[in-house]
Amino acid sequence: MNDRINISDFEALAKEKLSQMAYDYYSSGANDEITLKENCEAYKRIFLKYRVLKDVSSRNLSTEVIGQNISMPVMIAPTAFHKMAHQEGEIAVAKAAGAAGTIMIVSTLSNSDIEDIVKASGEKNGNVWFQLYVYKDREATRDLIKRVDAAGCKAIVLTVDAPYLGTRERDIRNKFTLPDGLSLKNLVPASKEYLPEKNTSGITSYFADYLDPSLNWKDIEWIRSVTSLPLFIKGIACKEDALLAVEHGVDGIVVSNHGGRQLDTCRSTIDVLPEVAEAINDKIEILIDGGVRRGTDVLKAIALGAKAVLIGRPVIWGLTAGGENGVSAVLEIFRNEFDLAMALCGCDSVKKITKELIA
Ligand code: FNR
Repeated sequence: MNDRINISDFEALAKEKLSQMAYDYYSSGANDEITLKENCEAYKRIFLKYRVLKDVSSRNLSTEVIGQNISMPVMIAPTAFHKMAHQEGEIAVAKAAGAAGTIMIVSTLSNSDIEDIVKASGEKNGNVWFQLYVYKDREATRDLIKRVDAAGCKAIVLTVDAPYLGTRERDIRNKFTLPDGLSLKNLVPASKEYLPEKNTSGITSYFADYLDPSLNWKDIEWIRSVTSLPLFIKGIACKEDALLAVEHGVDGIVVSNHGGRQLDTCRSTIDVLPEVAEAINDKIEILIDGGVRRGTDVLKAIALGAKAVLIGRPVIWGLTAGGENGVSAVLEIFRNEFDLAMALCGCDSVKKITKELIA
C-alpha cells in the first residue's frame, strides 16, 4: 500500500483485491457511464491562474462547515455497504475520518450500527453526519431520524436524486446482491432478506420496494418537524433547485449527481457549481461531490463557490486497500496535494481561494 502515491494507484490496488461484483458495484455509473467520466473530465478542462511571491511558508487548511471545524475542506461522502470492501467497514472509515479531523457522512445503507460508527469517530464524536433515504414507511423513517439524532450525528443529509435507482448495467449483469453475512444495520425493515437475489440487481428492487418516489419539497417541512438537526439536501444539479432549497430553509446543499450513478448524461457537478453558487449567493452552505480525485480539484471547487468537497469512491479504494490505514492514506494524499496546490497558487489559507484563480 505504501508505494501507492495517488488515488488512481489506490483504485488499481482495490480492483485487484475486490471481487468483480464488488468492484463493479463501487466503480460503476448509470447506463453508458457518460456522467461518471464527465465528473472527472470536467475538472481537467479547468485551468488555474496562479499568483507568486505571496509568502506561503505557513498555511492553514482548516475551514468550517455550518460552524463545525474541519482540518481541510475534504469530507467523506455517504457510500453504501462498506463491509463489502473491508471487514471493519464503516467503523474503519469513521476512525480515519476522526483522526484526520474531518466529517464522515454515513449512508442509510451502511453495514454497521450508527451508534458504533459515531463512537469510532473519536473523542469529539462530532464528526459524523447521517445521509437519509426516505422510506415509504414514514414511521420507519421517523424512527431512523430519531435514532441517528440520539446516536450523536450532527446533521442530516437528505438525498433527493434517487426517487428510483439509476440503471447500473454492470450490477444487473452481475445480479448484484450483498454477500452472505452482511446486512443493513440501521433500519427495521431493511436487512439482507430485503435485498433478494432477483434476475436483476438486488439494490434496484430494494429501492423500488421501500424508498418513497413521491418525496417532494413539502417533505422538507416534515423532516424539520421530526428533528432540529441541521439539514442538507444532496443531489442539487441546477440553479432553480438551489433557489428552492434556499426558499425551503435548509442549512445547505450538496451539488451532486450521485457520482454519475443516477441520470446518465446529466452535467458534471463542477460545471453546475458556478450557476448554483451565483443563485445561492452565500445564503446557505454549498458542498460538492463527484469526480474529485486531486488536490487541485478541491481547490477548483472552492474557488468556484463550494465550502468543501465530498469524496466517495476514493474512500472505498482506501478502505479496500488497508481498512482504517488505507482510508487515512487516501485522506493524507488529498491533504498533501491540496496543501501544495494552495501554496503554488499563492494562498496561505482556504479563505484566500477565490475565483480569480480560475483562468
Ligand atoms: C454512492 N453514493 C451514495 N449517495 C447517497 O446519498 N447514499 C448512498 O447510499 C450512496 N451510496 C453510494 C455507493 C457507492 C458505491 C458510490 C460510488 C456512491 C453517492 C456518493 O455519496 C457521492 O455522491 C459520489 O460517490 C461522489 O462521487 P465520487 O467521489 O465517487 O466520484
